[in-house]
Amino acid sequence: MQALEITTPDDWHLHLRDGALLEAVLPHTSAQFARAIVMPNLIPPVRTAQQAQAYRQRILNALPVRHTFEPLMTCYLTDSTDPNSLSEGFAGGHFIAAKLYPAGATTNSDSGVSHVKHIQAVLERMAEIGMPLLVHGEVTDPDIDVFDREAVFIEQVLSPLHARLPQLKIVFEHVTTADAVDFVRSCASTVAATITTHHLMINRNTIFKGGVRPHYYCLPIAKRECHRQALRAAATSAEGQFFLGTDSAPHLQSFKESACGCAGLFTAPNALSCLAHVFEEETALERLEAFTSLNGPAFYGLPANRTSVRLIKRNTPVAVPKEIMTPDGPIVIFDPQVPLHWHVESPAQVAKRRELCP
Ligand code: NCD
Ligand code: ZN
Repeated sequence: MQALEITTPDDWHLHLRDGALLEAVLPHTSAQFARAIVMPNLIPPVRTAQQAQAYRQRILNALPVRHTFEPLMTCYLTDSTDPNSLSEGFAGGHFIAAKLYPAGATTNSDSGVSHVKHIQAVLERMAEIGMPLLVHGEVTDPDIDVFDREAVFIEQVLSPLHARLPQLKIVFEHVTTADAVDFVRSCASTVAATITTHHLMINRNTIFKGGVRPHYYCLPIAKRECHRQALRAAATSAEGQFFLGTDSAPHLQSFKESACGCAGLFTAPNALSCLAHVFEEETALERLEAFTSLNGPAFYGLPANRTSVRLIKRNTPVAVPKEIMTPDGPIVIFDPQVPLHWHVESPAQVAKRRELCP
């Protein structure tokens, strides 16, 4: 038996949804993560401090007893976001960051930003006050191949934006390409990237293995194997610019298995087991903590968590159910297609064990 104790991780990009789905999915995150950046792409989106406060309260109300979890709220930027309201929301602690969805790029992004030039004043204000910009980095031009949209976004949007406002803190979210990894490394430390669990485990072949597999369809879409290898190298490098954002994005099974299936993978339940598996494969287990628990808080200027989780490698694989049930129907859990041997002892379990045998 091998064991590894690390500072409790945070998830720097998470979709918790609302209502019955929120109640069903939240415990899978709050069992293993202390904090998470909560994405604002609800219908309607979270655009005001008041909406963020109310959503935060709904999340806290849905927490299981004994789970300690801090939702970090984000503001959904639109063409008409007001710089003053945004900076008030940031100063008042209602928003930790603002999210840029190019309009039409992904799930519930229709009210997103149609062109960055429309939010120039907002971006300048964010740079001034040190408010991070979280970016879904894909162009939406239907003429651009879906596998090229991230690389083209770097060239057309992100690189000029960083050059214009180098002091603006940017998180290039859920990066999927070697181009993105190279770009982030070439930038000042004001630019960071999140990497998901699934993009470390699957490549684009997985989506088409033996037929169309909707449960591996997400945005940005998984790319070629060489890109997955670049992501693995970045995640396991311990470089401060790369940290975990699972982008766990639950959708009902019926919405995934449809003629026009939704993008998004529900990865929260087995995220840490998957990551330990990946880091072990890369002989980098000692760098797992930097990726899951240290680099993110350092970028956001927050302290690392004071509690720990324990990962234990057992001969018997972790029994991950195929799905979770909600009142609206099942949600399928990410299947990494390999047995996972790293079992997770939650912060509460670690604390209890310490009490029993100090
Ligand atoms: C996300 C969702 O379902 O909200 N989907 C996804 O494929 N990642 C939106 C997003 O982060 O792009
Ligand atoms: Zn997302």
